[in-house]
Amino acid sequence: MVTTESSLRRTFAIISHPDAGKTTITEKLLLLGRKIQEAGTVKGKKSGKHATSDWMEMEKQRGISVTTSVMQFPYNDRVVNLLDTPGHEDFSEDTYRTLTAVDSALMVIDSSKGVEERTIKLMEVCRLRDTPIITFMNKLDRDIKDPIELMDEVEDVLKIKCAPVTWPIGMGKQFKGVYHILENKIYFYSTGQGHTIQDIDVVEGLDNPELDQRIGSLAQDLRDELELVLGASHEFELDAFLKGELTPVFFGTALGNFGVTQMLDSFVEWAPSPLPRQTDSREVDASEDKFSGFIFKIQANMDPAHRDRIAFMRIVSGKYAKGMKMKHVRLNRDIQVSNAVTFLAGDRANLDDAYAGDIIGLHNHGTIQIGDTFTEGEAIKFAGIPNFAPELFRRVRLKDPLKNKALLKGLIQLSEEGATQVFRPFNSNELILGAVGILQFDVVAHRLKEEYKVNCIFEPVSVNTARWIECEDEKMLEQFKNKAGENLALDGGDNLSYLAPTRVNLNLMQERWPDISFKETREH
Ligand code: G4P
Repeated sequence: MVTTESSLRRTFAIISHPDAGKTTITEKLLLLGRKIQEAGTVKGKKSGKHATSDWMEMEKQRGISVTTSVMQFPYNDRVVNLLDTPGHEDFSEDTYRTLTAVDSALMVIDSSKGVEERTIKLMEVCRLRDTPIITFMNKLDRDIKDPIELMDEVEDVLKIKCAPVTWPIGMGKQFKGVYHILENKIYFYSTGQGHTIQDIDVVEGLDNPELDQRIGSLAQDLRDELELVLGASHEFELDAFLKGELTPVFFGTALGNFGVTQMLDSFVEWAPSPLPRQTDSREVDASEDKFSGFIFKIQANMDPAHRDRIAFMRIVSGKYAKGMKMKHVRLNRDIQVSNAVTFLAGDRANLDDAYAGDIIGLHNHGTIQIGDTFTEGEAIKFAGIPNFAPELFRRVRLKDPLKNKALLKGLIQLSEEGATQVFRPFNSNELILGAVGILQFDVVAHRLKEEYKVNCIFEPVSVNTARWIECEDEKMLEQFKNKAGENLALDGGDNLSYLAPTRVNLNLMQERWPDISFKETREH
């Protein structure tokens, strides 16, 4: 039962450049999964309404998706788990970690623009684990680049083979639909139906005279073009897809809710069920009976009415059952969990059971950190969930000095989420905030105000970069602490950190202290 349930899971995320259509396609997937009644009730950014996957006040104001939400829906006898990721590059850390929790990814490309910079970066991350990628060429209702050139671009820039599965007929105002290469069927597009699940309008067979009747000379153009395309491109091969070497390509328009169904039908067939994950001692397979999972994200104050912190766990093996005991491996402590939650775009529900591949939320009272492993007793630790050293630093100055305690609490809780790090230098009472992207400072200031009622401002500080310090030799570490004290600090999780005023300083220290390791990433 556990194995069957888990083998039905398809856990994935969408990777795309901002504005390529991730929010729109998410909405259509929820529509097809019958999780929302009608698309368009959740509008785009400019209109002031928002997709159900956008949560926070900040996101509404900025029109960006800051947090990762999780959506689950059944589709064709499978259970789809879609992890939403922030689109803005300042939140890339969060995105990286989310990608450790998925088994495949959907790449959405704006076909009028082609491969854009953020997609390149995200593909690099996917490649670290050879994540299988399915591609959706979006916005066919606009004037787009030549489809053959688009595929060439994906192959050249992203270094992945393309296998077209559907092929577009026309584009922009002349967009007629797609030909499904594997099914040998033509699906027709009708405009203005984007908000509903459409009736399928199909002609069987490329040589069917009905096709000529319906689209005239375009039919012969299509046949000629396909001959060329099929000769020059790759055929779909499941094995190569699963190895991350080849991506099946679908064309359509997310806004028009067309072509998405064909993509999703194939996706649930082909995408891998939950994959094994490596730990410090062995690989854990999804089919194992015993429960295990790891935390890839922590989110404070997700629901202002609840004022709590939720730790997002990817279940790697076994089953979660309400009330079960799990071992919190890092703390070597058993905890009983009776109130894990699932999510639907901001709404949450208590849940009775969940299986490998599912994402569940645990209430966190400060004892759970990103990267923590939970098991049914075995002392293993899942590997590969990175924390990146921040590159931008600001001193935090409080407007109301009496709020110091609330400030520290807020900064520590927000840094548990992983996008920022708070540092408390040894030699002063200052608080220094480090972030990977500049927008993070605004997010933190806003959230401190909204969620912790603390007003603060940020000031420049002469810190250039930070490194986490590790050393096996206790004596040496003590010596180092004595010598380097003025640049040492503790981060939010009490880890020893070195705040380097300049790169030159960091290099010198590394040369001087060869037995101390200055870590750029901290694996949780
Ligand atoms: P993102 O989450 O990847 O950032 O993109 P999002 O879905 O928000 O889409 C970005 C813009 O592209 C939106 O327009 C959206 O309506 C539009 N879009 C998405 N898919 C298609 C498509 O298939 N065809 C066309 N023509 N447009 C598409 P916007 O003007 O920014 O917002 P709004 O019109 O919803 O207010």
